[in-house]
Amino acid sequence: MMNFQQIFGASPETEASAPGRVNLLGEHTDYNDGFVLPTAIPQQTTVQLGFSKDGLHHFYSVELDERVTISEGHHTPSGFASYLFGCIRLLEREGYTVPPVNVHVTSSVPIGCGLSSSAALEVATLRGLRSLLSLPLDDVQIAQLGQQAEIQYAGLNCGIMDQMAASLADTHSMLFLDTRTLERRVLPFPAEAEILVIDSGVHHSLAAGSGYNQRRAECEEAARLLGVKALRDITHPQAVESIPEPLRKRSRHVVTEDNRVLEAIQGVSAKRFGELMNASHTSQRDDYEVSVPEVDRLVAILQETPGVFGARLTGGGFGGACVALVEVGKVDGISREVIERYGRSGFTGRILVPEVS
Ligand code: GLA
Repeated sequence: MMNFQQIFGASPETEASAPGRVNLLGEHTDYNDGFVLPTAIPQQTTVQLGFSKDGLHHFYSVELDERVTISEGHHTPSGFASYLFGCIRLLEREGYTVPPVNVHVTSSVPIGCGLSSSAALEVATLRGLRSLLSLPLDDVQIAQLGQQAEIQYAGLNCGIMDQMAASLADTHSMLFLDTRTLERRVLPFPAEAEILVIDSGVHHSLAAGSGYNQRRAECEEAARLLGVKALRDITHPQAVESIPEPLRKRSRHVVTEDNRVLEAIQGVSAKRFGELMNASHTSQRDDYEVSVPEVDRLVAILQETPGVFGARLTGGGFGGACVALVEVGKVDGISREVIERYGRSGFTGRILVPEVS
């Protein structure tokens, strides 16, 4: 691996990290002003920063072995550099002066799995710039700037969940977040349970042209027809029955999903939490239509495996990883069995959490 010194010929001035996240419940609710329940994963993105001497920004990604130079009047670059560029531009628009910087990025957050590698990169970059330039930004502002970088420079009209999780969550607890008020609570996992995350092997991309932005537009149209500011304002699923399909089923998912999160944070048992996860998957598959056959297969195998309380697709969907809640102490046996059965279906799964070193 090429380190900062080898790439830029000097030592870094500062370093910052941020984790990926896995969402346990509350999918596609954040851009509807609703409720989410993510936790951080052990995998992190780390940026090292220093001042650039030639007047230009230089970005280097270890994993991609790619170097990008931003010249004066440069348009938004593509790939990993778009996130760094977006963070810098947003700070400038906030009125901060960002001198030319060298940024070295390394990450163990899996890409295209629904575990928010992009939010980890945005939050790590903003933390790094905050530290390098002594910017007076708190962790919520960092998350909000990261979300705007994603929307304006990466083309994904996302909610605030991922950046809030990368900025505020830890791996030992669940972060309950009301995405309208940003009220949040740090909660323990259900008793006697731990988290298992498996990649389905089907990689997703949510950016421009994906079903993600389309789903968001459908939700906004549904809220307009229902006469509410956002679908969060509807508490009873019955209330959406009057609007036409597919808006009816899209809203039904959001309303029932919000209710599942609100039940899950009441300190329910692992068994009940798992049932809520299973119901969430069914709702994502049938009403929100963001699953794919491989993910459905993996979720079904997980749900059938003894010791698993519940399982669902996690993240933006259209591929990516599944999250399961499993009995404490059984994660190794369960992982082996599930990967083997999934393999016999002709697919290749990969355990992402717990992290195998
Ligand atoms: C992506 C987005 C989030 C959220 C999830 C779905 O991860 O970035 O804002 O909408 O999808 O829950």
